[in-house]
Amino acid sequence: MLAKIKTKFVCQQCGSEASKWLGRCPGCGEWNTMVEEVAVKKAEITLTGMPASKPKPISMVDTSAMPRLLTGVGEFDRVLGGGIVPGALLLIGGDPGIGKSTLLLQVATGIAEKYGSVIYISGEESAAQIKIRAERLGKISNNLLIFTENNLETIIVEALQHKPALVIIDSIQTMYSPDIPSAPGSVGQVRESTGKLMRFAKESGIPTAIIGHVTKDGNIAGPRLLEHMVDVVLYFEGERSYAFRVLRAIKNRFGSTNESGIFSMEQHGLAEVTNPSGLLLAERPQGAPGSVVLVYMEGVRPLLIEIQALVSTTCFGMPRRMAAGFDYNRLLLLMAVLEKRVGIMLANQDAYVNAVGGFKIVEPAADLPVVLAIASSFRGTAVDPSTVVMGEVGLTGEVRMIGRVEARIAEAAALGFKRFVIPAGNLSSLKLARTTGLKLIGAASVSEAMEAVFV
Ligand code: TYD
Ligand code: MG
Repeated sequence: MLAKIKTKFVCQQCGSEASKWLGRCPGCGEWNTMVEEVAVKKAEITLTGMPASKPKPISMVDTSAMPRLLTGVGEFDRVLGGGIVPGALLLIGGDPGIGKSTLLLQVATGIAEKYGSVIYISGEESAAQIKIRAERLGKISNNLLIFTENNLETIIVEALQHKPALVIIDSIQTMYSPDIPSAPGSVGQVRESTGKLMRFAKESGIPTAIIGHVTKDGNIAGPRLLEHMVDVVLYFEGERSYAFRVLRAIKNRFGSTNESGIFSMEQHGLAEVTNPSGLLLAERPQGAPGSVVLVYMEGVRPLLIEIQALVSTTCFGMPRRMAAGFDYNRLLLLMAVLEKRVGIMLANQDAYVNAVGGFKIVEPAADLPVVLAIASSFRGTAVDPSTVVMGEVGLTGEVRMIGRVEARIAEAAALGFKRFVIPAGNLSSLKLARTTGLKLIGAASVSEAMEAVFV
């Protein structure tokens, strides 16, 4: 019989403690910052019963015993920086229904086929549901153990007995630690559970992947606190109505956070997309006004994306503006620049801008293509379909430099693009040979860029 464990409430801002929950912290006066924690840690006892580590010289630290596990899902391995590191604690976040369980089931199957058993702990779905999904994915491995349980202590005991190659927790919001009386999913529970899993992963060397739901404001499990506790934070994103999914590393203690994996959600699970640019441009209308292609950097990965704009006269009242996949306020700003610096009067025009494919474009390099797409639709003149446009636009209508121009041009050239309208500042520093048959045009201002595309 477990002794009842005392808990306390600790302010996450200033660290003040109280014996019961308070809406407002008596220490710093902040609201809603008190979180339940275990008062007396069961100190000195390691979870796994293994000896605690001792200080040792850095030269004695053994790194050879760290071969990474390759999951067989190439894009996943790539984002991690070459597979899963033993003892790593991974957090995978994303909106409900985006495909987190599907992705990790594919990862689990890959590891189970190569390295031995994998325990998939589900607090959300029944074992039958998971089997149906695995059948849909087309691979069933006997090494994959499904465990429907919510009590973390039971889970850790089981995991230590089986010594699997990987443990997957789906999801952290459904797990609870009996030490804390509050309900699963509460901040205190999620934190305590993650803390336990971290100790489990570190002490046993068994890599553990946790699925976390994203709250309305886009954070995993509410506070960003969890992100500090784990080794790797991945976000799985995409528009549910599109097939494209992007896996991004927000934090990675074992690799860079620049890599991103691109998947498409198919009938039989997530497929790796090898030529996303080609796929993204497959349905592009040629010679239609309002369509401009840009090379967008998804981390270090160049992607060709079509920006579409539709400008039409407002019938009555306020003109409407809408942006999909692009920042709304940025659109308003760029339209103001067009009015003031180029003299295109848009005050009585509705304007709609869409980044095709469901990607959210947050890069300033998309400014110039958006501006030109709007101008193109307004004038009813198409931009040459073999032209790529990129550049940041400033408030005085100047075109500012962007990063990684050579990688962008190389990607577009591979898909047959010949003309490039780029910031004048980038052109001078570009070492790209002129002999490649590509036409590079430097634009210092929006007006210059317009002259280059509308001949
Ligand atoms: P799921 O992995 O359950 O999402 P999450 O765990 O992030 O909530 O998958 C969600 C969606 O993916 C679901 O609506 C069905 C779809 N899906 C496919 O299109 N193809 C497939 O092969 C699978 C397994 C799911
Ligand atoms: Mg799920």
